[in-house]
Amino acid sequence: MNEFFKKISGLFVPPPESTVSVRGQGFQFKVPRGQTILESALHQGIAFPHDCKVGSCGTCKYKLISGRVNELTSSAMGLSGDLYQSGYRLGCQCIPKEDLEIELDTVLGQALVPIETSALISKQKRLAHDIIEMEVVPDKQIAFYPGQYADVECAECSAVRSYSFSAPPQPDGSLSFHVRLVPGGVFSGWLFGGDRTGATLTLRAPYGQFGLHESNATMVCVAGGTGLAPIKCVLQSMTQAQRERDVLLFFGARQQRDLYCLDEIEALQLDWGGRFELIPVLSEESSTSSWKGKRGMVTEYFKEYLTGQPYEGYLCGPPPMVDAAETELVRLGVARELVFADRFYNRPPC
Ligand code: FES
Repeated sequence: MNEFFKKISGLFVPPPESTVSVRGQGFQFKVPRGQTILESALHQGIAFPHDCKVGSCGTCKYKLISGRVNELTSSAMGLSGDLYQSGYRLGCQCIPKEDLEIELDTVLGQALVPIETSALISKQKRLAHDIIEMEVVPDKQIAFYPGQYADVECAECSAVRSYSFSAPPQPDGSLSFHVRLVPGGVFSGWLFGGDRTGATLTLRAPYGQFGLHESNATMVCVAGGTGLAPIKCVLQSMTQAQRERDVLLFFGARQQRDLYCLDEIEALQLDWGGRFELIPVLSEESSTSSWKGKRGMVTEYFKEYLTGQPYEGYLCGPPPMVDAAETELVRLGVARELVFADRFYNRPPC
């Protein structure tokens, strides 16, 4: 279609690729037609900030200085009105229509490039009444940082779900995930429905930016449900690397039967080179049960344990719990930029 016809017909044909220039960072990257800014950046090994990939968390926000974009869903859904009005948009929801200039609040660095590979389920082990540990052996080795996650696609049940790695990289390349049975959940229902050993999945990984930050500050880890998976992965990797620091691990669950992996955590505690306190807190345990531990919400107990030294927060689990924990840590004097979080949203493939 020539330019004249395009003009008179009013049709817009986007270029085969657009260039995104990051103001003040001397950084440029190409985005092929039809890809989002985030998708393209990650596949080029650029550490574009992100978490959920579905327009919910706001982590991938950028300021659009010039150029036009198509939005898959309105960025206004994942950003406050003020940010949206100031020109911020979401990298995971924007497809460039032309060359763009953008501004980011963070400095871009290098990231591991996500790969796609098929993988066989090699083991499934019940960890709690509603949690299975699924071990898979991928065809291609996946490099990842403890705390990151994978998109797991199951062709047999037509579902894609995201799960954090629950153990650090293994010498044999196997990978583990904690899968919680979600009422009506397609993938978790399929996995819990029988022995799936030998079934084939497709993995795309790594994604996410949750992980250990170098410091000597005491780690305040807060895990809600299977939010324990990335926390455990990070802590186990610290033991392997002999980089232990003082740790307070708050583990929030509804009832005693929801607490899981305590044997693994206790094994970590035994060999830990520093203070390591595990504080399980149950929110819905019957008042007449044998439970002698803490009851209520994890946030109610921060004050008792945080006693003045420098802290960093590592929070994983359902967004409302993570939000509440973040607010309480900041209220108690932990700098917001030292609170790192992985909120478990439903994440589609990138
Ligand atoms: S809103 Fe884009 S990564 Fe969460």
